Amino acid sequence: MSESTFEPAMQLSDLPEGRMSACQISGRKILVCHTRDGIFALDNVCTHAFARMNGGRLRGTRLICPLHAACFDVRDGRVLAPPAQQPLATYALRLLDGMIEVAIDPAAAPQVAY
Ligand code: FES
Repeated sequence: MSESTFEPAMQLSDLPEGRMSACQISGRKILVCHTRDGIFALDNVCTHAFARMNGGRLRGTRLICPLHAACFDVRDGRVLAPPAQQPLATYALRLLDGMIEVAIDPAAAPQVAY
């Protein structure tokens, strides 16, 4: 069984509070959100259909999909409002010398290709 390792995502200085930014780590599309409650990493692909979450809106800890307005809690990925039914996957994150690093669980379910 392979273990997840932290990989650099972006500089904290490039992600002010209230903003989100997309990146790709280990072939996975990731969204990093900087909120007043902390920094969180989630899948950047909506669980409802083909939408990149970074095109949506971040309101506090609520992430709103740009396509059909499903709402997720960035702290744990849970669905706050439909039409999405499945939570967004979330990932471990750490801050090292100003760099945000994210660890992808190798056992994570595959993302929908688009
Ligand atoms: S694609 Fe996100 S709510 Fe439909």
